[in-house]
Amino acid sequence: MKTTDGGYVVSKCRAFLLFIAFVGSLIAVGLLVYFLADRPAASSVTNGASTASPSTSGSSKAEVISSNKNVRLPRAVLPIRYDVRLFPVLEKGNFSILGHVSIDVHCKMETDRIVLHSADIVVDPKSVEVMEHGKTMKTLMVASDGIHYDTEMEFLVIRLCPKHKDKLAKGTNYTLSMSFVGHLTDQLRGLYRSTYKEDGIEKYMAVSQMEPTDARRAFPCFDEPNMKAIFSVTLGRHRHMTALSNMPLINTTQMEGTEEFYWDHFAPSVPMSTYLVAFIVANFTQVAADVGNANWKFNIYARPSARNQAQYASEIGPKIQAFFEDYFQIPFPLPKQDMIAIPDFAAGAMENWGLITYRETALLYDEKKSSVSNKERVCEVIAHELAHQWFGNLVTMDWWTDLWLNEGFASYAEYLGSEHVEPGLKWLQQFVTRDLQDVMSLDALESSHPISVVVHHPNEINEIFDRISYGKGATIIRMLAAFLGEKTFRQGLSNYLKSRQYGNAVQDDLWDALTKQAKVNKVAIPTGVKQIMDTWTLKMGFPVVTVTREYDNNTVLISQERFLMQRSNASSQDKTVYLWWVPLTYTADFQTIGSTWLSDGQTSKKHELSIPIDKSQWLIFNVDQMGYYRINYDAQNWQLIGQQLMTNHSAISVINRAQIMDDAFNLAEAGQLDYMTTLNLTRYLEHESDYVPWDSALSGMGSISSMMSRTSGYGLLKKHFRTIITPLYNKLGFDQKMGEDILMTKLRANAVSWACSMGNKDCISRVVSSYAQWMADPENVDIISPNVKGPVTCAAIREGDEAEWEFALNRYMSSNVASEQAVLLASMSCSEKPWILAKMLEMSLNSTSGIRKQDAARVISQVAYNSLGRYMAFNFIRDKWDELRKVFPTTFSSMSGIIKAVAASFNTDLELKELMQFRDERSASLGGAERAMQQSIDRAKNNLNWMRQNYHKVVDWLQRVY
Ligand code: BES
Ligand code: ZN
Repeated sequence: MKTTDGGYVVSKCRAFLLFIAFVGSLIAVGLLVYFLADRPAASSVTNGASTASPSTSGSSKAEVISSNKNVRLPRAVLPIRYDVRLFPVLEKGNFSILGHVSIDVHCKMETDRIVLHSADIVVDPKSVEVMEHGKTMKTLMVASDGIHYDTEMEFLVIRLCPKHKDKLAKGTNYTLSMSFVGHLTDQLRGLYRSTYKEDGIEKYMAVSQMEPTDARRAFPCFDEPNMKAIFSVTLGRHRHMTALSNMPLINTTQMEGTEEFYWDHFAPSVPMSTYLVAFIVANFTQVAADVGNANWKFNIYARPSARNQAQYASEIGPKIQAFFEDYFQIPFPLPKQDMIAIPDFAAGAMENWGLITYRETALLYDEKKSSVSNKERVCEVIAHELAHQWFGNLVTMDWWTDLWLNEGFASYAEYLGSEHVEPGLKWLQQFVTRDLQDVMSLDALESSHPISVVVHHPNEINEIFDRISYGKGATIIRMLAAFLGEKTFRQGLSNYLKSRQYGNAVQDDLWDALTKQAKVNKVAIPTGVKQIMDTWTLKMGFPVVTVTREYDNNTVLISQERFLMQRSNASSQDKTVYLWWVPLTYTADFQTIGSTWLSDGQTSKKHELSIPIDKSQWLIFNVDQMGYYRINYDAQNWQLIGQQLMTNHSAISVINRAQIMDDAFNLAEAGQLDYMTTLNLTRYLEHESDYVPWDSALSGMGSISSMMSRTSGYGLLKKHFRTIITPLYNKLGFDQKMGEDILMTKLRANAVSWACSMGNKDCISRVVSSYAQWMADPENVDIISPNVKGPVTCAAIREGDEAEWEFALNRYMSSNVASEQAVLLASMSCSEKPWILAKMLEMSLNSTSGIRKQDAARVISQVAYNSLGRYMAFNFIRDKWDELRKVFPTTFSSMSGIIKAVAASFNTDLELKELMQFRDERSASLGGAERAMQQSIDRAKNNLNWMRQNYHKVVDWLQRVY
């Protein structure tokens, strides 16, 4: 029966079956699925899932819901403890979940109902029971029409019988229990199934992904981060399978009536949020790590045939976990840590407490077939998820509005943990290109958003797992640690975690703890940590600080304003005062460092500094780019910097060389610096051999190249870039040197990639010949080092034909190493044959093509980043919109990446017009990709503007030089 508010009710029969009876045998299970699925209520609920699924006009509903604060659960009844029993049925044709849950709850306010979350689950109405705790357990009557699904809110409402006048009384505890059936889908969320081949045979496993709002798809629960409780988990499994959960196994019992199936009972958890609960049933191998004298066990799990790829993770995992125990000054509270590589996994990894799940590429590493970058990725992700075990798991954000704090902090701390185990990768240098400079380019758009955003609906929650929460979050935390000093930062942090452990917090709680510690340590800051940090978390964007030297009187004038790639009318309507508390540092020799603050109240008045240095000496601000802002100088100071770079670049720190490159490219792009200055600066690169400045320079050059790739000036640009990259390519060579610096190995991959794509003849001929050798001897892993396999395969496919591409596809299909597969798949999109790109687009959506659902969005994006594939990908998403919405259901966040990839280099009127038209036509179905769409439109407008204002300037410069 449908109710007026779009929900559904089912009648409750008086008698209820005990759960054990209802899962007693597989035959009974089959009957139950049949029995429930046949009822109107059940089928309505299943259809009701379409609220969140793509086949309805989800987004307009989402807007209505998002303005409705009631998407939050009422707080009359709160959970204390869950007893969850789940039996994932891994049988083709019958993928289902049979479940039972008992929840001890505490009543805070008298009420006649319990409201909790549930989605795509069918509760057996006869099984629902509410018992009052007391001297004796008393059963309360549930109303005959008392079970109500609010499918839009994803609520399950259980109402007591009005006739019996039963109420839940304030201060009393109750147990709510019920049996239910769910689907073990392939949707990569909730409790879902993943598949893989072992000895040619298809295998299934069950795995969970709850964050942010999908625990409710595995079992009815109070699915909000501040409703922490204890979880006692029991998982049903076949006798040949292993079950895992957050806590260690305590005992195993036989499932009644069968010899084939068992129940694994796990120890009760510590108090934690629902989004951190994890369940796995699989036939995996375990690799036990050596933990020294630690108080916990540490295991890695993987497909049996990927066992030998688990070694690296098992070496660094325990080391990083021990590092964080020391860093936070809090021991890891669980008796074990498991990390498992899942063949189908939507995110990169998930920090479930004590059972961290990963994509295979983020955990597994093969000495012979994976590259240094793959290793770096594994290290980074492990460190990130382990940091969450404290920051996020032990102390959790109160609500998703503070997600940035969780993800931003882990994204900062991952560098510390990684530096501890892999110092050769110079993580603290790489921070600036990987996070700071990367996110600045997004945050310079008008359609960026503040780090701290009010969110309600699951679509909105999913949308904020973006570069702003991660990259900007990490960057402003790094800035904070720098101005407080490491010691104060660490002590304040540790106090914050200890005082809120097993609880929740908002950003102000962290600011308070740090302000207190700053007082104790007598750190001079101009105002409270909150006042400073609010300017960075509540306003979007960041400043450009303009430094103007008065050379005759040693005075420096400083001002700040928001840095925007392009200003439009919208910004004039925005009433925010874009001024920040800016911690400024400066130096003229990297020996003495001066510092001061710009305040958020300094409107037109310029800050004046007296810096007594010689006229001929450069001055550099934002030392080691610890601050989240750009710096622009007067022309003379730019020139002085340029001269220093040309004569002896190492007088300027590695990070500041990267900063100078990135600022110069971006200021020029925004029309705030002459392109001549920027392009002249790039000449120093001839002498540069450090990784990070090259990384910045190449991304600056990359964006000019993508603007010009379809213009007549491209030939000259290629010539210039070839001139810049060739000395580096010659210096590093094509082959790896014994014992070389690990960052040089990484840089070589970039050098080969650029040298070949800019037409360096030597590069192209070497690539073509090594690839041909490999094609002749496919199993030989020594022909092409995994460290250049990406650029070599990409260039060989670009220069080659069908055979080269087919070969890569065959290698992809037959590889057992996910990181090798990812490199091959990415390189395959380098083809310049339109029909091959069309084939790749089609393969991305075809479940039998060998491309997993988890990789589909990436394939489309990669085709779109190829300048020949850009428009094909755009046509493809326009044609296949509805199909795409089915493949990337509900939250639709994968669509954000695709839209951004397609529009990244749009730079003509027509392209912009078509993009806007597309947005208008699909405005009702954009879901979680709305902001990405707006950002893409902004980006395209910037590009168009760039073509109008800068294209000719760049071409003029090139013509003069060449
Ligand atoms: N908590 C996230 C995983 C996640 C992401 C859950 C999006 C739900 C939605 C996890 O800690 C994470 O951030 N993973 C990153 C890797 C990390 C190294 C940046 C990821 O998945 O890419
Ligand atoms: Zn994270």
